[in-house]
Amino acid sequence: MAASGQALMNLLPDGYRALVIGASGTIGAEFVALLAADPRSGEVIGLHRHSFPAIDMQDEQSMAAAATALSGSTPFHLVIHAAGLLHDADLMPEKKLSDLRASNLMKSFSVNAIGPALVLRYFTPLLSSEGSRMIFLSAKVGSIGDNRLGGWYGYRASKAALNMLVKTASIELKRTMPGAIVIAMHPGTVNSKLSKPFGGEVKGRPAGVACLEMLQTIDALKSEQSGQFLSYSADALPW
Ligand SMILES: NC(=O)c1ccc[n+]([C@@H]2O[C@H](COP(=O)([O-])OP(=O)(O)OC[C@H]3O[C@@H](n4cnc5c(N)ncnc54)[C@H](OP(=O)(O)O)[C@@H]3O)[C@@H](O)[C@H]2O)c1
Repeated sequence: MAASGQALMNLLPDGYRALVIGASGTIGAEFVALLAADPRSGEVIGLHRHSFPAIDMQDEQSMAAAATALSGSTPFHLVIHAAGLLHDADLMPEKKLSDLRASNLMKSFSVNAIGPALVLRYFTPLLSSEGSRMIFLSAKVGSIGDNRLGGWYGYRASKAALNMLVKTASIELKRTMPGAIVIAMHPGTVNSKLSKPFGGEVKGRPAGVACLEMLQTIDALKSEQSGQFLSYSADALPW
């Protein structure tokens, strides 16, 4: 763990501004806490479904309005998208084809892929032209090449779609915002609300450990890594 008062994001400008989307989640809340305690950060804003402004991945208008509300101030040097859905009261990851439901597949794609696509659309204009990093939390189970176990159709496919959207945006941004680095990142297994029903409490590490590992990797990112799918430890993952 970083000692209290120890600088975390050494390659961002002093007084950098950070935005965490999905700040009510286990990982998102930890990112907000760590970045706010970084002596080099100037301002850290956390958005979620009940923040002001609120942001809901299934409501495009909320994303447009949140971006407009934040657009008047200084641009962001770091944006971390930590919202995502694996299960809720009506949705559990599918074990077999007969578990597939159109409504659940649509919800997974809506939250895990279409929402982040609209975050790219509405929030990239808020990035600093001095240099910025935009991180989308993906999942290794979204890797097509690494899929050995099957199951979890909606979550896997929606994260694979997220990876394609991030990669595609990175190509456009290389041209239009050369200082921006955008990546998809696998946080590793983290003890969280999302992982709890699947043994996350036993298999996962604490969010504080995971977020520090991710921030080290994010801080060290080079522009040529934009568009990659990386693990928390900076290993390139197969698409
Ligand atoms: N934990 C792991 O082991 C693990 C492994 C691989 C990848 N990930 C990824 O890491 C990210 C964070 O996961 P976590 O473990 O921190 O999960 P979590 O504690 O369940 O947090 C999920 C976050 O997503 C938000 N969210 C869900 N549906 C939303 C919607 N429609 N609109 C806006 N926000 C929505 C939640 O908001 P509410 O509080 O309003 O529900 C919450 O802020 C996810 O993308 C997940 O897929 C996690």
